Amino acid sequence: MSQEARPRGRVLLRVFSLASGRATCGYTREDAPFLLARIVAALTASAGRGDMAGNKTLGDAKRAKQDEFYTQMSDIQAEINAYLDYDENTFRGKTVLLPCDDPEWSNFTLFFAQNFERLGLRKLISTSYAPESKIAKYGALFEYAALRTGEAPKNERGKIFVLEHDVNKNGRIDFDDLEWDYLKGDGDFRSEEVCRLRDEADVIVTNPPFSMFREFLAWIMDGRRHLGGAGKHFLIIGSMNVITYKEVFPLLKENRMWLGNGFSHGNAYFRVPEGCRTEYANGVYDAATNLVKFRNVAWFTNLDHGRRHQPLRLMTMAQNIKHSKHKEVRGVGYLPYVNYDAIEVPFTDAIPGDYDGVMGVPISFLDKYCPEQFKIVGISLELADMKPIKERLGRLDGGPRLYTERDGQLVRQYERILIQRRK
Ligand SMILES: C[S@@+](CC[C@H](N)C(=O)[O-])C[C@H]1O[C@@H](n2cnc3c(N)ncnc32)[C@H](O)[C@@H]1O
Repeated sequence: MSQEARPRGRVLLRVFSLASGRATCGYTREDAPFLLARIVAALTASAGRGDMAGNKTLGDAKRAKQDEFYTQMSDIQAEINAYLDYDENTFRGKTVLLPCDDPEWSNFTLFFAQNFERLGLRKLISTSYAPESKIAKYGALFEYAALRTGEAPKNERGKIFVLEHDVNKNGRIDFDDLEWDYLKGDGDFRSEEVCRLRDEADVIVTNPPFSMFREFLAWIMDGRRHLGGAGKHFLIIGSMNVITYKEVFPLLKENRMWLGNGFSHGNAYFRVPEGCRTEYANGVYDAATNLVKFRNVAWFTNLDHGRRHQPLRLMTMAQNIKHSKHKEVRGVGYLPYVNYDAIEVPFTDAIPGDYDGVMGVPISFLDKYCPEQFKIVGISLELADMKPIKERLGRLDGGPRLYTERDGQLVRQYERILIQRRK
């Protein structure tokens, strides 16, 4: 933080006093960022800024808007608690960086600042992406800095928020001790100054833009390499679709990354700013709650938690064939693949607990993966042998996949993870 560090928490307090002022109207503290968005959108319904979005292709703008959703406090709390339940010292003495964040909008900084002492943090740093960059992407929506304390906003610059000391000398370190300043640039996580913060941090926590997940993960890994591979931990949110990426799967396979504790019942709800709400398919955005619901979103991490060490309780192969609730297995058994030496297991709860060979299981298995119970052999995308398939079909119906055979017909399976029981 530079000499001219800004007064702590001032912007935030304005936001939260706005929110609490409306509490009787049915708003909660979690609504603060969105209340502000609404107020600002109303105040700054300026056409000129919106034109900048027109410079982008429609596809770019749409993708960017779909990256604008905000994690709920309850989800952050539940996830972090899972690591603390496993090891109460998970964050103790650590410097935590929250990039792609913005305390004026999101709950990550609020959560970590309020829990600074409970977590035993050494230092908390959070950075936000410049309003101007957002304006370029989304139009006037994010033009909120005008509500700051009267000084001319520097919309083209991101901000850095730091919490390290009891600045107000009230005997505790919390949200009210946050200091902030402008960054030199727009706060892009790839910028040199944010890379330096990455290298300083022990743990990186955020919900990065989904469309940049691959790049974001590589950025974290670069930080690890930069430090000789030592000690960098992360906890980030992403779509389950990334699991098949060639940059992602090897990390899962080698137990260098795994799924976090997870969202309640696998349903992840995020808040969406006004202006981004029309970008979702029917049924994803709920106008009554201003939340989008995603079924296939997960936390990805290399912090340990208890759930990943709980082995699945499984029936034997014979029991499954006799009693499985799945008609595909009950009385049928497990079909071998035509193009890889393994059997097809179409449901995670139908994995035969006594089978020693390789099994193909749905990708959602990773949410139940216990490394002491199974090892990951690979993924169908990489292991499926497509030669015999092409020979039989005379063509290929897409990329590499495993096939079974039923009544003389080849059956193309969904992407499968190949696993084997540890003895
Ligand atoms: C999915 S939102 C999550 C926000 C916040 N972390 C949360 O979960 O509440 C991703 C955030 O990253 C910001 N962002 C987009 N591109 C970025 C970039 N290149 N560098 C840093 N932040 C970026 C977006 O504006 C958005 O605020």
